[in-house]
Amino acid sequence: MKVRKAVIPIAGLGTRHFPASHAVKKELFPVVGTDGIARALFHYHLLELDAAGIEEICIIVQPGESAMVRDYLLGPDAGYLKRLEKYPVLLHEALQMRKYAERVTFAVQREQEGYGHAVFQTKEFAAGEMVLLGLGDHLFRGAPVSPYHELAAMASVSGGKSISAVNRISAGELKGYGTIAGTRRSENARLIDVSLIIEKPDVAVAQEKLLVDHLPAGIWLGWFGMHLLAPSIYEILEEMIRNDVRDGGEFQLTRAQEIQRQRHGYLALEMTGSQRFDFGVPDDFIRSLQLFRHLP
Ligand code: UTP
Repeated sequence: MKVRKAVIPIAGLGTRHFPASHAVKKELFPVVGTDGIARALFHYHLLELDAAGIEEICIIVQPGESAMVRDYLLGPDAGYLKRLEKYPVLLHEALQMRKYAERVTFAVQREQEGYGHAVFQTKEFAAGEMVLLGLGDHLFRGAPVSPYHELAAMASVSGGKSISAVNRISAGELKGYGTIAGTRRSENARLIDVSLIIEKPDVAVAQEKLLVDHLPAGIWLGWFGMHLLAPSIYEILEEMIRNDVRDGGEFQLTRAQEIQRQRHGYLALEMTGSQRFDFGVPDDFIRSLQLFRHLP
C-alpha cells in the first residue's frame, strides 16, 4: 500500500518564541539549507515529502493564515522575479516553489486546543487513507533516504496499523516525549510491536513499565516527531473531543495513539541513521540552525 498523503501542523501559538513569534510564525522563521538558501522552516517539509513520493500535503493553520502560506509558495510578482534574474539559483527556487502551491491544501484549526485537536482537523483530507504526520516546528534528515520515506515504506508491512518513528532517549529527555514499551520483531529488529505508550513519563514509571528488548539500561524509545497514522485515529480523536478528554487542558495525540494501540495494535520504527532538529524554543532553534546548515 502506497502512502500518498501527509499532514504538517503549523497552527500552534509558538509561545516559547514570543515576542518573535508575534511578528512571524515560528514555522516561517528562516532556516538556511546546506545549499546556503534561506527558506521558511515549513518549506523543508515540502521538499522532503516530495522526495519521499508524497503526492498530497495538508498544512494545518490558524484562521486567516492559509493565504500567507500560499502567497509564500506562489512567490513574488513579475517585477521581483525580474530582480531575481541576477541570482539564477534563487530564481529557480521561486519557480520550483510554485508547484507546491498547487499541491498543498489547508485545514484550519480554529482554537489552539492541542496537537491531537490539530490533527483531527485533517479528517476530511485523510478520507480513510493512512497519513504521514511530521511536527511542523521540527525538521528531519536521514542518509541516504529521508525518515519520511523510511516510515512511509513501512506501510507495506504494518498490516494497517499506525507506526510511530522513535529514537533513543535518556532519563533527562523522558519529560519531553511520548515513550513506548514493546517487543522487537524477529524479521526486523527496528520494528517494534508496541505494548504501552505514555506521554512524558516519570523516570520511575519509565523504569517499571516502558521496557523494550535490546536497549541499554537507562535508555528508552521516545517519539521522533513523525508518525504514520491509520485512519481509526480520527474516530478516536472525535470521541475524545466529544467527551472532552483532555490532558493538561489539551487534546493530546499521544492519548489517542494509546487508545488506538489498545483497540487495533500499534507499531514503532526505531530511527537509527536519521536526525531530528527541534526549532521550537530559542536555544534549540539556534543549535538546530547551525547543525542543519552544515549537514553532510
Ligand atoms: P508545540 O507543542 O511546540 O506547541 O507544537 P506550540 O503552540 O506551537 O508552541 P508553544 O508551546 O506555545 O511554545 C508542535 C507543533 O504542533 C503545532 C505547532 O504549530 C507545532 O508545529 N500545533 C500545536 C498545532 O498546529 N496546533 C496546536 O494546537 C498545537
